[in-house]
Amino acid sequence: MIGKSGTALAALMLLAATVTSKAEAQEQTSAPLDRVQSVFSLAVDPAGDGALLLGTGYGLLRATPDGMAQVITPPRAAITGIATDPNDPARLLLNGIDADGASAGLLTFDPEQARWTATPGTQGETGTKLTSLSISRLDGDRMAGIDKTIQLSANGGLSWEPLATTPEETLAVALSGTSPSRIFAATVGGLMVSEDNGQSWQQSYPGDAPVTVVTSLSGGRVAAFIYRTGLVMADEETLDWQVVGTGFQDRFLRALIEDPSSPETLYAVADTGAILLSRDGGATWISFEGSDLATPDRIAAGKVLYDDNCASCHGAGGIGEAPDDPEARDEFGFKAPALNDAMHAWHHSDAGLRATIHKGSPRNERMAAWQEVLSDEEIDSILAYVKSTWSIRSLACQGARHMACMGQ
Ligand code: HEC
Repeated sequence: MIGKSGTALAALMLLAATVTSKAEAQEQTSAPLDRVQSVFSLAVDPAGDGALLLGTGYGLLRATPDGMAQVITPPRAAITGIATDPNDPARLLLNGIDADGASAGLLTFDPEQARWTATPGTQGETGTKLTSLSISRLDGDRMAGIDKTIQLSANGGLSWEPLATTPEETLAVALSGTSPSRIFAATVGGLMVSEDNGQSWQQSYPGDAPVTVVTSLSGGRVAAFIYRTGLVMADEETLDWQVVGTGFQDRFLRALIEDPSSPETLYAVADTGAILLSRDGGATWISFEGSDLATPDRIAAGKVLYDDNCASCHGAGGIGEAPDDPEARDEFGFKAPALNDAMHAWHHSDAGLRATIHKGSPRNERMAAWQEVLSDEEIDSILAYVKSTWSIRSLACQGARHMACMGQ
């Protein structure tokens, strides 16, 4: 059917299965973001501070750009889906699965109290186990999700009906933002659209490449992620798809949302679980971790500092010392490694890289302790500049996540 192989793609095929796994044991209440696995869905935290809420295998987490994630509800349920009501960004809907594999129910989350309430009748063995949860832009009582097949609710989640037909291997569903009878389905065999509430389906994006995500955006637009192509968008009036973001290589997105307060800002979960952020409508991406530092001004300032202090050894643009001479070594048996993504700088988390720059290398006095020369703020700017030279793939595979990307 898809004539392509590879571990990333195999992971994609398993996505639907892993997403419905039950709550994972997790004792910690906070963790570095690059160690948070099984992130399935996300939402902008209505409480603000540039934070995101992550639906993970060990509960609902609050992630901040400093690279930390806090467990904000008892880790009793895996959160398989989060939906923000596009008509009321403070209204959040979640679906959980408890440690026994039964539904924790369709939950309304109150961010101020950090408390959720289950919708009556949605808990237990026969309760909802929905992934890819979404709320219609046209009617906040209308919602969709996937539990084996696409399910629709017309009454705010009190009752759910399967669609007449669901395309094979559907990974994600989106209700149209402009037409009450149109539904999109992202499937392993392509992007499908139904104009009659799921009675029949047609191909929407040309080709049969796997599609991992589909999301309705503001302004009558819709976005999807096409494996090996990238992020595509269309105006719902014409459904004339345009490629807007490339460079994902073999990685893919498993969730995509728009910032309700700024339509040019998109957040995504990569297949690795890394959180990515675009401030230009999906054209370019940075990692959520450190995004507060990665402003154009800080990156420009970081480049000047890098050129003055680091380029003499690490090369212009971070290409490394003597990149054309693999045998070259300094008196300690090293050379200054590339800091762009040609080597393995991206195997380290932001915290790890920051520590090396602050304290220097214990093995090599040429890599000095820069905390004696540069301020914390200057070092952060250099780090933002260095990361701006990385590919989306390296950002998605940074830190502890790099193991999952090896050999793929
Ligand atoms: C005089 C040469 C020199 C200068 C200048 C220099 N470095 Fe280094 N740097 C090195 C060497 C050599 C290593 C390898 C040390 C080791 O492996 O123990 C290194 C390692 C590093 C690493 C670890 C990379 C990895 O993949 O593990 C980082 C990060 C780094 N340098 C950042 C910087 C930054 C930022 C600056 C400027 C503020 C800088 N360096 C200036 C020589 C230098």
